[in-house]
Amino acid sequence: MSSPVAILGLLAVLSGVVGTTFYLQQDRPATVIGLGAMAGDPAVDLKAAAADGRYRFLVAGHVYGRHDHSSGLFAPFEEAWAALPEARRPDFAILTGDVVLRPDAASWNLIDEDLARFGKPVYLAPGNHDGGYAGQDRDVILKRYGARGKAWRLGRDAFLCCDTQRYRGNIDGDDLEALKQLCAAKPRALFVFVHHLVWVDAEKAADPAVKGLVNSVSAGYADKGNFDQVILPLLEKSGAEVFVIAGDVAAGAKVVEWRGEAAPKVHLLASGMGEHPHVGSYLLIDVDDEGIEIDCQRLDQGSHIGKARFPER
Ligand SMILES: [Fe+2]
Repeated sequence: MSSPVAILGLLAVLSGVVGTTFYLQQDRPATVIGLGAMAGDPAVDLKAAAADGRYRFLVAGHVYGRHDHSSGLFAPFEEAWAALPEARRPDFAILTGDVVLRPDAASWNLIDEDLARFGKPVYLAPGNHDGGYAGQDRDVILKRYGARGKAWRLGRDAFLCCDTQRYRGNIDGDDLEALKQLCAAKPRALFVFVHHLVWVDAEKAADPAVKGLVNSVSAGYADKGNFDQVILPLLEKSGAEVFVIAGDVAAGAKVVEWRGEAAPKVHLLASGMGEHPHVGSYLLIDVDDEGIEIDCQRLDQGSHIGKARFPER
């Protein structure tokens, strides 16, 4: 007759087998749609899309668009995404904040309906309108989608969606801890998504040219940000090709897209949509074994950034 210890041992072995089987079932092509992906593990959900070392993703900021736009995805952007030919369609998307004008259930329901049309996982770096705005629940994203931010690895690369609204326009708190871990892993490329242009703060915005870069300095920017002292040294030390991509432009901002370099391998980008005369812009990013190609598309065609390849050829 088996002893209790032997039975426990057998159960442990069986649970290990069951656990392995469960993992294999999880290791599947992406079936997660829209912001529902925030509750999942992107390393699992995106694995199949990146299995051959090549993948493409879309980055869009301020997708509620104009302040008089009714709700859901800004129509010119939704049309542009839907019109992408099969060969240019992204495997997943990142929204760099200000997804809704007001973070109420009806607005999020409309966004979910619009995103379902594309059938792809979508991740979010929340903006100042996405929680706590106009007396609404500050934790609406956490309650609705299960996470306020996300960090993951995909092949040799690393991704981080930050909640800069929570940290007054900075990468800080749990986002900073996640960034430290990703940097320590020495990825080939590191993509950091933020709503606020984290390299801008109220002090720097005393210069009108800097102030014109962002939709509104009063929308959650730090008086004195931590980018120069804390974030940039960390990014440089990672040795990665780093892309910090923000979404808070093209509504009140004088720019519809913007690119600058904080250091030789630390690239700063912003694109968004709204009241700007050029309507808006979004990014399509192709990654393969040779590097990263960023294609900035304006919603009224062209863009001053155009296509850029990293490392440059
Ligand atoms: Fe904003």
